[in-house]
Amino acid sequence: MSQDTYYKDHWVAIEPERLDRYEAQFVWGPRGNRLLEPAAITAGQAVADYGCGPGYLSVELAGRVGPAGHIHAFDINADFVSRTRDRVAAKGLADRVTVTHLQGDTLPLDDDSLDCLVIKNVMVYVDDPLASFREFRRMVKPGGKVHAIDSDFYMAAFDPIDVADWRAVLDAGIHAFRTPAIGRKMYGLALQAGFTDVAVEVIAAPDTSGRMLNFIKNMAGYAREGGAHDEEIVTRVVDVASRAVKDGTFFALNPQFLVTATV
Ligand SMILES: C[S@@+](CC[C@H](N)C(=O)[O-])C[C@H]1O[C@@H](n2cnc3c(N)ncnc32)[C@H](O)[C@@H]1O
Repeated sequence: MSQDTYYKDHWVAIEPERLDRYEAQFVWGPRGNRLLEPAAITAGQAVADYGCGPGYLSVELAGRVGPAGHIHAFDINADFVSRTRDRVAAKGLADRVTVTHLQGDTLPLDDDSLDCLVIKNVMVYVDDPLASFREFRRMVKPGGKVHAIDSDFYMAAFDPIDVADWRAVLDAGIHAFRTPAIGRKMYGLALQAGFTDVAVEVIAAPDTSGRMLNFIKNMAGYAREGGAHDEEIVTRVVDVASRAVKDGTFFALNPQFLVTATV
């Protein structure tokens, strides 16, 4: 994979080991409710789930819009598209969710056709976040919302991983993200895209259970694939984190930026 387009290519083709790790990372749980609150999704709405991954969020959204609503789920990864189709079918929601394998950044939806577009932890990967905000605005009807949720990779904090070690791994793996500081940038991008009503919230819920160990292992993988890493440091980061999860001293914070732009 080319370094220049790795941020996208590593999603188009995901090796099986990473696919299962991602799958485990994206399971929807009650802690996700706060992330969706500002979107105020209600029964009967048409909602897009842009970058749906394995489909847990699509199932959650389908429950919220109910039988009179509809979910349009999109992803660039073929395995995630089929996992989302299987997941919604298993829940009896196939009629309520249309799953599309996306080949570009333009969505096959009409102007003003959505009540809400949700994009969760995907803005960091799109080629041109400003163009994406503009494209989302096109599809959302007046009064509707674009609700973007994302991290800011320079603000994630871990303990007892050494601060300089983490920064070295992040720097070596940074090619995995198109806009790694997207969290802090989304407010300005939404304004630039023409939204005038933009609300921002940051949720910083610490993880002490070890859920974020997969995130650390993925970052180690990105660093190794970049080729410019220090293996001793990468190994130490994963070892320190793994030991901390085992002995109950693991602490991780990955603030989530919620930008809700009303059309
Ligand atoms: C970190 S995952 C988030 C999955 C899901 N939104 C969630 O939060 O559970 C990122 C997802 O975005 C998809 N993705 C990455 N770049 C994309 C793009 N340019 N357009 C659409 N989907 C993209 C990936 O294939 C992957 O499924």
